Amino acid sequence: MNLEDLLFYNEYEQFYLMSKGSNAFKHFCEKAFGRDFSQDGFSDVSQVDRILPYIPKKNEVHILDIGCGNGKMLGYLQQKTNAFIHGFDYSENAINTARELFKGKSDFRQGCIGEIDYPEEKFDVIVSMDTMYFAPNMSVFVDQIMKWLKKDGFFIAFYQEGDVMPKTQNETTSVLAKLLLEKNISFDCIDITKESYELLLKKREVAISLEKEFEEEGNRDWFDMLVAQTDYCIKSYEEYSKEMARYIYVINKANSMRETE
Ligand SMILES: C[S@@+](CC[C@H](N)C(=O)[O-])C[C@H]1O[C@@H](n2cnc3c(N)ncnc32)[C@H](O)[C@@H]1O
Repeated sequence: MNLEDLLFYNEYEQFYLMSKGSNAFKHFCEKAFGRDFSQDGFSDVSQVDRILPYIPKKNEVHILDIGCGNGKMLGYLQQKTNAFIHGFDYSENAINTARELFKGKSDFRQGCIGEIDYPEEKFDVIVSMDTMYFAPNMSVFVDQIMKWLKKDGFFIAFYQEGDVMPKTQNETTSVLAKLLLEKNISFDCIDITKESYELLLKKREVAISLEKEFEEEGNRDWFDMLVAQTDYCIKSYEEYSKEMARYIYVINKANSMRETE
């Protein structure tokens, strides 16, 4: 597969190069998200903390992050739980940084959704934070994730509607939810649309406060892009929520297997 043909490949290479060298972006992440994970997603540290209760408290815990970027979110989860961290991303720049930053109990691989594979029943927790959208075939990818999970493992998907994915009626009608339902995979879902809207407002305010710092670094283009990404919140929440939604889906493989037996 030619990586450059994949959606946003070159943009992400540039993004992870910028995030490595930019103090303004580091400050943006710290102030907007409460922690610098070089987020290109929409998750602040309080959303990431929602993963922690699903990580078992035992020796030899394995977590996989799909589209892990430079691994900083996984590094945080490791710091909190001492888990072995695994991540893959198609961005070479991201994976090189992850390998530099996190050397112990870690396995970072450059690879594409749809091509990369792991052994069956390897992981206690698999996280997909704003990455399901990039699967060439989401149905096949869900099957693969379920295969990679241990029998009692959890799959946690942070999932946005209204930009890459179409806005549908509610959390049971999204492309991901429909696939899970078709496959008899039961899920819990938390609707975080309201808090995402509030986070967007905060991102806008923080980005604008750092304009000079971005400018002085020569990163004016990234500043403009960050602000443009928050244009959605110029409208009221009522208007915003007609077009956008954000959910956290939690799948417990043990429950799904019981229901299909
Ligand atoms: C929206 S960003 C989310 C990044 C991070 N999980 C977060 O929440 O900030 C999508 C991530 O998926 C990676 N990615 C996009 N398409 C991919 C693909 N086809 N295979 C592997 N990684 C991909 C990008 O490099 C990027 O790190």
